[in-house]
Amino acid sequence: MIDKTQLPLVSIEAINEIHFEEVDILNTLSNLIDEQDTDTITSQIKLLVEHMQKHFSFEEGLMKDKSYPMYTIHQADHNKVLSETRYILMDWRNTKDIDRLKEYFQDELIAWLDQHIKAMDMPMAEFLMSS
Ligand SMILES: [Fe+2]
Ligand SMILES: [Fe+2]
Repeated sequence: MIDKTQLPLVSIEAINEIHFEEVDILNTLSNLIDEQDTDTITSQIKLLVEHMQKHFSFEEGLMKDKSYPMYTIHQADHNKVLSETRYILMDWRNTKDIDRLKEYFQDELIAWLDQHIKAMDMPMAEFLMSS
């Protein structure tokens, strides 16, 4: 579970809102994993993937508009985590390995989000606000 009050904030409110939405989806998924609700887990992971796509293309659109110099490296980090999550979904459908989901959604992806916001979204928002 992610405590929303602990989520690093960026200087563009619309991006914080998207991050909060993603945390809600991720926290719901985390509960479903604990409850071992296998059918609902699958649709919740799909929902998360759709939201990640929306989240990333929103940021990428803003970066493109302002010709942000770090666009390529930022987009590469989005693409990497998106393909990892899609792979986890595919693997889950084949193996129904709940421990792998715990590891990924209750640990790795949470750490990624915190790290990505601090290292990439915060400087991006600073740049976009000042340009
Ligand atoms: Fe973001
Ligand atoms: Fe980002």
